[in-house]
Amino acid sequence: MQTQFYDLTGGCDAEILRTAGQLIREGRLVAFPTETVYGLGGNALNADSSRRIYEAKGRPSDNPLIVHLAEPEEAEQYCVTCPLYYRLAERFMPGPLTVILPKRCENGIPVIPDETTGGLDSAAIRVPIHPVAHALILAAGVPIAAPSANRSGCPSPTSAAHVRADLDGRIDAILDGGDTEYGLESTVVKIDGDGLILLRPGAVTEEDLRAVCEQVRVAADAVPADAHPLSPGLKYKHYSPNTPLILLDGAPDAVTGQMETLLRRENCAVLCYEEDLSRFDSRRSLSLGPRNRPDIQAHRLFACLRQADTLGADTIYAPMPGREGIGFAVYNRMIRAAAHRVISLD
Ligand code: TXA
Ligand code: MG
Repeated sequence: MQTQFYDLTGGCDAEILRTAGQLIREGRLVAFPTETVYGLGGNALNADSSRRIYEAKGRPSDNPLIVHLAEPEEAEQYCVTCPLYYRLAERFMPGPLTVILPKRCENGIPVIPDETTGGLDSAAIRVPIHPVAHALILAAGVPIAAPSANRSGCPSPTSAAHVRADLDGRIDAILDGGDTEYGLESTVVKIDGDGLILLRPGAVTEEDLRAVCEQVRVAADAVPADAHPLSPGLKYKHYSPNTPLILLDGAPDAVTGQMETLLRRENCAVLCYEEDLSRFDSRRSLSLGPRNRPDIQAHRLFACLRQADTLGADTIYAPMPGREGIGFAVYNRMIRAAAHRVISLD
């Protein structure tokens, strides 16, 4: 398959968006930028389109897709909403929040096919704020099912170049909208009665959610592979570079000192904070951003993991991230990328 590459870094081009919208309507696949990561979009109402998404990604088909809408109110057509959904929508939509709602049925048949939702009777709803994503949903005229546009198991793509590296020749088109803003996937919450279950941390933090809903239960920690996880995505190995990643947990000086030692002794590379970069060999170190800027670390993390894989190292070491604010989402992704390999320096 020939993948068409469209440059929209200069802004939305009506002609290109019409073409891309048409492709989606016809059941073909278009990767597009959002404010979080790039998505691999297809027609959420078309079972074949969702099958193609799983195939292109090499993803198990019981891991459900997120349904992207232009406006929060459109969820009425596809799901059973509630006042708490609208309170969340008012505060965080459009933006980096995904809300799981029960699917709506017509004549006993769910409006969103089971292929899109991995056989579940709930659907994940998200209203992206990125102008290209928004314009594409409008141009398609159908809800867009989109997982992150990476090959299954690879870090999510935060640039069109990442999408191309993973999916060139496997999908119909890629819309280049430049680097994504947040760099980590959306926060995923499930509405559970009057409360919320935080399934995946993201830029909308637990504290942000508590401003709208007092009861927030965090279920985002890793779930053993044989358990029945609340969010099917939690059970799969995720975000991993090919080179093994190990996190170093300890005081800042101890971590930096250990990295210097490891670089002397082993064929390794390090992901470090900006402040420490000058202490390491520049060919074997990458900056995650300033120590106290988890927002910048979030923005860079997946690109750093991809780049680290090109350094020819046997092992990559990185500091255990802090857990404040969006730092909790960075921590969640890094722990998974490291498959829970942590060395404690205390
Ligand atoms: O930022 C994002 O959310 C990006 C952009 C493209 O919107 N999308 C994304 O999709 O990260 P994906 O498929 O990589 O992750 C979706 C997550 C998975 O962990 C999946 O299991 C969970 O949402 N999910 C989707 N539908 C669900 C449902 N009905 N119940 C529970 N979890 C669900
Ligand atoms: Mg993903």
